[in-house]
Amino acid sequence: MKKPMRVAVTGAAGQIGYSLLFRIASGEMLGKDQPVILQLLEIPDEKAQKALKGVMMEVDDCAFPLLAGMSAHSDANTAFKDVDVALLVGARPRGPGMERKDLLEANGAIFTVQGRALDAGASRNVKVLVVGNPANTNAYIAMKSAPSLDKSCFTAMLRLDHNRALSQLATKLGKPVASIEKMIVWGNHSPTMYPDIRFATVEGKPAKPMLNDDAWYKDTYIPTVGKRGAAIIEARGLSSAASAANAAIDHVRDWVLGSNGKWVTMGIASDGSYGIPQDVMYGFPCTTANGKFEMVKGLEIDDFSRERMNKTLAELEEERAGVAHLLK
Ligand code: NAD
Ligand code: LMR
Repeated sequence: MKKPMRVAVTGAAGQIGYSLLFRIASGEMLGKDQPVILQLLEIPDEKAQKALKGVMMEVDDCAFPLLAGMSAHSDANTAFKDVDVALLVGARPRGPGMERKDLLEANGAIFTVQGRALDAGASRNVKVLVVGNPANTNAYIAMKSAPSLDKSCFTAMLRLDHNRALSQLATKLGKPVASIEKMIVWGNHSPTMYPDIRFATVEGKPAKPMLNDDAWYKDTYIPTVGKRGAAIIEARGLSSAASAANAAIDHVRDWVLGSNGKWVTMGIASDGSYGIPQDVMYGFPCTTANGKFEMVKGLEIDDFSRERMNKTLAELEEERAGVAHLLK
């Protein structure tokens, strides 16, 4: 029997948490032979803690053979103690009359505290995935608040965007999702993201000539993928939850167990590649193996792509400037 891995989930009583915990405990994220201990964080609010207890009762009732322990927390320091994986899902949603700046401020306060708690108590090889929005900037704040951890411990979730980009293209071409490789979504998890199919292949053949419809690609595909989150909110009255949890599982599973050479999009701290300034938390194409990710480098960037990549970068730099005072 393997040693259990400790997995922290924040916002565990929320919508995404409800789709996520059961799949982690059943082995879908870390492997069917990997025991897990769940360390669940919610705000101290009595209602949230009570709801969390209810979800934990349900997890118990599944009698998952791989679940080696589970605890509820209202303090990030105890929740993150010794964790191998941390899924930072809990975040302050945008309220009525709240500007983007106010949202950044409210979440900045959460992610500085959580970054410091990870710095103080998590495994030195912890794998952190930030899902809570604005995910890229929250991940940047957490990373900057954890100076003793390697920058590569911190990632932001662009996998939902990557999966959306795969699914939309597969539908248009009438091909299975699994036949598409080398998809990229550059930049921010926001409508400025740039789904780039220039290198994508379908059944091993280049996707762009197969699609042969640049107008659809630019005028329909890119905005559809970028605005999919808003379209789900409009249709459901709630933001995406099961698909977000699924993307989180995909992201961490590939990071821990390897992507077998496949390209996956991860929000990672830039090393200066592709003209993206160092440390900006940006969606890049990556491959993963042996518990590490590696950026796919050396891809040609044409004028259209440069323009799109700069646009999403400008938004991230603006967000970064907006939280700079929290990181002094
Ligand atoms: P939700 O409101 O249903 O749940 C969020 C939970 O987080 C709540 O239970 C809340 O009490 C908790 N929470 C808030 N602050 C916390 C803190 N400081 N510590 C611990 N818990 C805290 O929301 P949801 O639908 O589960 O979504 C969670 C976040 O994920 C939102 O920010 C949403 O915008 C984001 N999201 C991101 C993506 C992505 O692709 N990156 C996709 C979908 C949703
Ligand atoms: C999504 O992409 O579905 C979410 O990030 C949307 C949101 O604003 O919660």
